[in-house]
Amino acid sequence: MKLSFSSCFLAIFMITALIHAGTTRDLRNVAEPKIPKTYASLKATGADDTAAIQKALDSCAKGEAVALSSGIFHSGPLNIPSGVSLLVDSGVTLKAIPDPKLYDLGDNRCGTINYYGTVCKAFITISNAKGSGIYGKGTIDGQGGEKMIGYDISWWTLTVNADVKGIAVRNPLLVNINDSEDITVYQITLINSPFHHLVGTRTKGFTVWGVTVNTPHATRYNDGIVADGSQNVTIAFSNVFTQSDNIGVWSLNAPAKQISVYNNNLISGSGLTIWSATLYGVSEVSFCNITLSNLYYGIRIFSDKQKGRLVSNIIYDNICIINVLNPINLDTDFFHLNGSRTPEFRDINFNNVWVKTGGNFILNGNSDSYPIQVSMNDVHVPKDTVWSVNYSKIKGKLLDDSDNKSCGQFGIN
Ligand SMILES: *[C@@H]1O[C@H](CO)[C@@H](O)[C@H](O)[C@H]1NC(C)=O
Ligand SMILES: *[C@@H]1O[C@H](CO)[C@@H](O)[C@H](O)[C@H]1NC(C)=O
Ligand SMILES: *[C@@H]1O[C@H](CO)[C@@H](O)[C@H](O)[C@H]1NC(C)=O
Ligand SMILES: *[C@@H]1O[C@H](CO)[C@@H](O)[C@H](O)[C@H]1NC(C)=O
Ligand SMILES: *[C@@H]1O[C@H](CO)[C@@H](O)[C@H](O)[C@H]1NC(C)=O
Ligand SMILES: *[C@@H]1O[C@H](CO)[C@@H](O)[C@H](O)[C@H]1NC(C)=O
Repeated sequence: MKLSFSSCFLAIFMITALIHAGTTRDLRNVAEPKIPKTYASLKATGADDTAAIQKALDSCAKGEAVALSSGIFHSGPLNIPSGVSLLVDSGVTLKAIPDPKLYDLGDNRCGTINYYGTVCKAFITISNAKGSGIYGKGTIDGQGGEKMIGYDISWWTLTVNADVKGIAVRNPLLVNINDSEDITVYQITLINSPFHHLVGTRTKGFTVWGVTVNTPHATRYNDGIVADGSQNVTIAFSNVFTQSDNIGVWSLNAPAKQISVYNNNLISGSGLTIWSATLYGVSEVSFCNITLSNLYYGIRIFSDKQKGRLVSNIIYDNICIINVLNPINLDTDFFHLNGSRTPEFRDINFNNVWVKTGGNFILNGNSDSYPIQVSMNDVHVPKDTVWSVNYSKIKGKLLDDSDNKSCGQFGIN
């Protein structure tokens, strides 16, 4: 794959894209984050370090960080206050103690499989904060595959057991950020989350840079990095290896817009997902310089007739997809629900997209009045690719001349 001419934010190709090119991104000027000054350093004791870490965070000066500087820390849920950061140094691991009681919200529901909705606290919470962050080359381990204290099974097995009963269990998130401003997550490695790894909800100014998610063995509901109902978001230079959505842009709680996702590698999950599930919709999102390998879905946008709404002004630029079962899947009727909403996907722009291996290509629009509107420029798929298409308008040329070489710079080689 040639990764030569693309600049991500200067979409020079389509008339439609040209109109919006200036805004189809995080509107901030985002540079590589800098690690804040250390206010206090802690060494792991080998015992439960929750109280010591929380105390240090609560007394930390604004603009500075609490450093976990050596050893393996064991902790229950932690709250990072406004203006404060947590720094996990290289070689250090912060492990979530797998005791459902610690994450309970007071009603003994965490660790059970009989309830819908949020029943557990996250391991790390940043809520109603401004200028907080998580930094460092260390690891945060959710211990999703370890036996829960007082149980014979792990968080992940709990998920499987709940699935059998038709219940989507909500184990603790590894990192939950909500209703915040100017939040940074830099360099950290996130592994084995009991549920999704890093979720930013209703957050304005959210930078995820150089982060690794490495969870090859989880079961389900282990999304990597999710921006839900957030604005001014950058997700860059990250490697996401998981079993569910690698990177998700959702609008479950608020509009999702002005989002830049670039220079990322996605391995083994359900790819780049846009999920429009409210009236608010998703718009002005650019995905650029991304490789997707060995996944179930590649590029996916989905919605439904009960809650769906508009997804518009989306750019996929300089993308390479290899060994993916469903390389491109845009579906306005994903859950087959009846309803009066009209999910509408328009101004979806593909530029310099290479799909190296065959699979299912699906565009499923809503109706003749609300077709999916896609522009294709320099889109290459393998020979004899068959598209399943309902109610869609495709502008531009689709070339079935994809070479069968690896993805190159951003790929698995
Ligand atoms: C995308 O990749 C190209 C080629 O490597 C590079 O020139 C460009 O700067 C990248 N874009 C971003 C936003 O990093
Ligand atoms: C996004 O960033 C731009 C540029 O800094 C700023 O003007 C705008 O208010 C921000 N949007 C939100 C919703 O915070
Ligand atoms: C946001 O965080 C607060 C405090 O932890 C919590 O009460 C609330 O349920 C959270 N909302 C979401 C959507 O995570
Ligand atoms: C949706 O409506 C159709 C036609 O009215 C009906 O046959 C079908 O069972 C309904 N599906 C659901 C999931 O309610
Ligand atoms: C197209 O619509 C028909 C009828 O609703 C449906 O059976 C089929 O699965 C749709 N095709 C795709 C690609 O979703
Ligand atoms: C490329 O083609 C060769 C020979 O047909 C095949 O063995 C290989 O799996 C293909 N590679 C990809 C990435 O499709």
